[in-house]
Amino acid sequence: MKVAFISSEVYPFSKTGGLADVAQSLPAALNKKGINTIIITPFYSSIDKQKFNIRKSYISFSVFINFNIEYIEVFETEYKETKVYFFSNKNYFQTDNFYEGKNVGIRFALFSYAAIELCKKINFKPDIFHLNDWQTSLISVLLKTNYLNDKFFHKTKTLLTIHNLAYQGYFPKDILSKIGISPHIFHYKGIEFYGQVNFLKGGIVFSDFLNTVSPSYANEILTYEAGRGLDGILKERKECLYGILNGIDYEIYNPETDKLIFQNYNPSLIEKKLINKVELQKKLKLKVDSDTILFSFIGRLTEQKGIELVANIIENFKFLNVQTVILGEGDVYYKNFFKKSEKTLKGKFSANFTFDEKLARQIYAASDFFLMPSLFEPCGISQLISMRYGTIPIVREVGGLKDTVDSQTGLIFKNFSNKEFFDIILKSIETYYSNKNFFKKMQINCMLKDFSWESSANEYIRIYKKLLN
Ligand code: GLC
Repeated sequence: MKVAFISSEVYPFSKTGGLADVAQSLPAALNKKGINTIIITPFYSSIDKQKFNIRKSYISFSVFINFNIEYIEVFETEYKETKVYFFSNKNYFQTDNFYEGKNVGIRFALFSYAAIELCKKINFKPDIFHLNDWQTSLISVLLKTNYLNDKFFHKTKTLLTIHNLAYQGYFPKDILSKIGISPHIFHYKGIEFYGQVNFLKGGIVFSDFLNTVSPSYANEILTYEAGRGLDGILKERKECLYGILNGIDYEIYNPETDKLIFQNYNPSLIEKKLINKVELQKKLKLKVDSDTILFSFIGRLTEQKGIELVANIIENFKFLNVQTVILGEGDVYYKNFFKKSEKTLKGKFSANFTFDEKLARQIYAASDFFLMPSLFEPCGISQLISMRYGTIPIVREVGGLKDTVDSQTGLIFKNFSNKEFFDIILKSIETYYSNKNFFKKMQINCMLKDFSWESSANEYIRIYKKLLN
């Protein structure tokens, strides 16, 4: 079976969120299971050619878009035994703000056309086009319209994975003529959405099958509250919508072998985890004390991740024997806010506004509890990584968090409220200081959980097979 996996970001080349992790680790897992999977992604400015041994291929072609001819040069490499193709184009892909700028709609329309054309150029007849989010949704639209009579794809099926319904990619109606899509599909059962063109909606309507990244989120998006205006159309496609949990790469994230952390450990040597705490405290200029409880938050500082709740309670930490570390990029408002907290909570709080893979791993390894009070969460990757490192997640009962954390591996609260969040934090502090045995048991339970791709990759393969029958 041949799968073309198309993603607007792929770790370690380009990353703004969890999509990048999935776009690397799922294709690698599929290849291991004998499914011939290639990855196709844009070649953004900051991608390091040397570091990843990215070579210019002999293939190049052009696409007519926005009333111009755009020239595409193809680059390639292998990562974890998976072939990766990149598209270089000076007008649309030479940027590092992947999802911003006035041309963003045309950028991903061009990407979609180019992905289709590349398959033909390299004679890779995909059984499945595996698409991800709005940026690649147009591929389904194109295959059912402009490419409908193209023999090359007459057996190809499309699967669209929705990683986050909050991002839909909508643009003024006049984009249709720029991207060569017929106005015939501009209606409410097609690509139209409140007078605009909605790429994700196009994907939802025209893909052969849909999935989201957790069973709970697959149910939630059928409701008015979480459906973001698309619950109606999603309900119509309910029979073709399924939830499959993300996995993580258990070779990359392994506290026993991870070279980025200060001290390796495993469930039977869990005491050694503490060395990571002490070293991190030194590195981030926190008061050095292996017995002080350490909370961490790693993720985008955005509404989705519940950063508001963290901000609302952090000042209370002044009176408690706790330390907290934050790592992530995001809203300026929160950056300023936490900069101030660093002063009032001197030695107890460290805020780091970058994305630094090494520091992230060191924090996962060092922390006692991981804060993930998300407002909504399609799956969430960070809680899976934290568990792998024996760091107990504190999560809100929503989406993928609900499906991956239970009372033996984490602490769970229900409503998005300061009080409920703070109460659960107090409970974690009590567990840590007064019930060490249970704390340790939870740490080990977390580490023994299996969130590798093993079973989830099989579920994808099952869907692929079903589609081909
Ligand atoms: C998005 C979602 C996150 C999910 C990730 C990968 O970033 O917000 O919940 O884990 O995609 O699917």
